[in-house]
Amino acid sequence: MIPMIDLKKQFNDLKDELFELITEVLESSQYILGPKVMELEKKIAEYHGVSEAIGVASGTDALHLAIEALGIGEGDEVITTPFTFFATAEAIIYTGATPVFVDITNDTMNLDPQKIEEKITKRTKAILPVHIFGHPADMEQILAIARRHNLSVIEDCAQSFGAEIQGKKTGCFGDAGCFSFYPSKNLGAFGDGGMVLLNDSSIAADIRKLRNHGSKGAYRHQSVGFNSRLDEIQAAVLLVKLRRIDEFNKKRMQKAALYSSLLSENMELPVVKPGVTHVYHQYTIKSNERDKIQKVLGDNNIASVVYYPIPLHLQEAVSFLGYKKGDFPVTEEISEKVLSLPIYPELEEATIRQIAEVINNA
Ligand SMILES: Cc1ncc(COP(=O)(O)O)c(C=O)c1O
Repeated sequence: MIPMIDLKKQFNDLKDELFELITEVLESSQYILGPKVMELEKKIAEYHGVSEAIGVASGTDALHLAIEALGIGEGDEVITTPFTFFATAEAIIYTGATPVFVDITNDTMNLDPQKIEEKITKRTKAILPVHIFGHPADMEQILAIARRHNLSVIEDCAQSFGAEIQGKKTGCFGDAGCFSFYPSKNLGAFGDGGMVLLNDSSIAADIRKLRNHGSKGAYRHQSVGFNSRLDEIQAAVLLVKLRRIDEFNKKRMQKAALYSSLLSENMELPVVKPGVTHVYHQYTIKSNERDKIQKVLGDNNIASVVYYPIPLHLQEAVSFLGYKKGDFPVTEEISEKVLSLPIYPELEEATIRQIAEVINNA
């Protein structure tokens, strides 16, 4: 079977460096929030050109703690996309706030800025764009709307580590950038992990407290927080992979370019807007024949996944929000057409040619 992602190859390539840093952690017997987490926070902050980086237990927690630290909660509304992983909406709901969905554009499948303002009410406190599949959302327009209405902006960068708009990295545009280090992400750990990036030291201090039981340390608790700490072994793994992230992303872009040069014109291929880099967390095609293509791929032992078959506004878990089919026509149509293909830095050129041929024949 050709998998969506093969993490074994990357592990074997990096084994010596990984074992060296992981052994340092094991020998130090300091396993949680120690020197490796501090080094990782410093390096990721530097990589992005921000002053604050806070390692947390997952991408979901990064979103949750950032929203909470920005003072958003009960009675507030947060505008976001219905075309994302469920965690984006979950994090909003954890704080007591209500996710308010806005449809996406057909090309990049990100929040449609033209449709945001009509959803802004007195309760709206923030806009939460997701850089879906690794293509940046339209931050220029989103920030302009946020400024006009005095709203916070929280970026969900779970899929966009290293992606840029005019040379500036996603996660540095809004009030907070939230990252996931889930193993399959562009920068992936060997377990769960996440990070919040920002430039406000006082909000950063609040997030540091929230991740550690509302405490600044030494058994003094200023507020009720959470257990959302990043561990040293994950930080060690991420430090090794961070050395290679630009190379990994470049390879993803090369694989994507090869797919796009080979796939037939009978389907919609990923779009890259001028001035941005797409880091291809997913390489996602759109076709009216999606189910047929997926069946033929499966018959040929090639994995493919529909991200996402059910838009968030139609998920049973959030039926209390009162949305119905037809509310977001672009998202609903796209969820019936999208298909993500295998992509990872180590994917062989010959394999891409094989996959493209199977699709074109289908
Ligand atoms: C867009 C998006 N947001 C949030 C998350 C949540 O990240 P995590 O799985 O690390 O909690 C994910 C990851 O799966 C994601 O893809």
